Amino acid sequence: MKCRFLDALSCSNVGRAPVWLMRQAGRYMPEYQALRRKHSLWELFHCPDLAAEVTRLPLALLQVDAAILFSDILVIAEALGLTIHFPDQGGPRIEPAIRTADQVAQLPLLPVEEKLKFVFETIAQLRADLSVPLIGFCGGPFTVASYCIDSASKDSFTFTKRWMREDPQSLHHLLHKITQVSIAYLKGQVRQGVDAIQIFDSWLNILNQEERHTFAYPYLQQILRALAEFSVPVILFCRHSSLFSQELVALGSTCISFDWLKPIAALRREVPRSIAVQGNLDPSILKLSPSEITRATEEMLRSMQGEKGYIVNLGHGVTPDVPFEHVRHFVDVVTSFC
Ligand code: CP3
Repeated sequence: MKCRFLDALSCSNVGRAPVWLMRQAGRYMPEYQALRRKHSLWELFHCPDLAAEVTRLPLALLQVDAAILFSDILVIAEALGLTIHFPDQGGPRIEPAIRTADQVAQLPLLPVEEKLKFVFETIAQLRADLSVPLIGFCGGPFTVASYCIDSASKDSFTFTKRWMREDPQSLHHLLHKITQVSIAYLKGQVRQGVDAIQIFDSWLNILNQEERHTFAYPYLQQILRALAEFSVPVILFCRHSSLFSQELVALGSTCISFDWLKPIAALRREVPRSIAVQGNLDPSILKLSPSEITRATEEMLRSMQGEKGYIVNLGHGVTPDVPFEHVRHFVDVVTSFC
């Protein structure tokens, strides 16, 4: 197995930096769209054959250095007895929405091996024939909680924010339950053979500093502590990560994934050498011409030349409106850079 990616995570890589993209299997890809015409999103996530097929798509079409399991951070809600819907319009919805302390108290902690068996089966299938490392993942407890509470109105997070102020104790209870199932879920993924984990705490950016320390970091720390026994590398992603890099450094993950608000070389200097960094091309650059993509990508690569512990990625996921050829061009620029 080529371990450019794992070597970069342990800051011991040589040669060019590894590359993969968040949302590398998705709607910008004609092959993915063809599968979506035949199957609902729910089916793609729940059927191991299909999820494994989608996971492999970018490997064949883009030659990236890592695969990310095709699933969604919200399927974990099924281990809390909730139902997840992926309507064609309006983003995913968790039902019933969790809004009261009583609901939280009654949420069951169901066995993940059973409720999320389809994910473990997908990993087992992929393990058999992948030529690059496989990234497993989960959502950060705060982000998953905000979807459980507010998925229908997530643009304003009205209920989540109200709950933080009016009844923090029961919100902590919800975060605790989500953390418990997340730990069991990630341990299951590692046992099944994923090579690295990425935690997507996407919505940390809606919290102020004190709220991050109260409602997010303690739970991320619990997850990181629980995974320590496996020595599996863990990448931490959140929106606006570059604005609070020191807080993320203090959590002690293997790698931090950065947005594009600051140059990656500047962020490298903010993060101790023992922690890898990932990122951070602005995803909207992939909508520009191939020559602009080359220019921006090479500028980023040049600024990091000779740096160990660097994984090339976007600052957030590939958007559906990007031409497939542009994504391939981005990967080609990275893999041919020397
Ligand atoms: O990166 C990958 O290629 C792996 C697969 C993956 C998906 N979702 C598949 C997906 C991963 C890692 C996720 C994580 C995820 N899901 C996050 C955290 C990362 C981030 O972007 O901030 C969040 C917040 C979600 C919740 C979610 N799932 C939303 C908001 C949506 C709808 C809007 C959107 O971004 O497309 C989904 C649906 C979803 N999850 C799709 C895919 C490929 C859309 C596919 C389709 O409509 O066909």
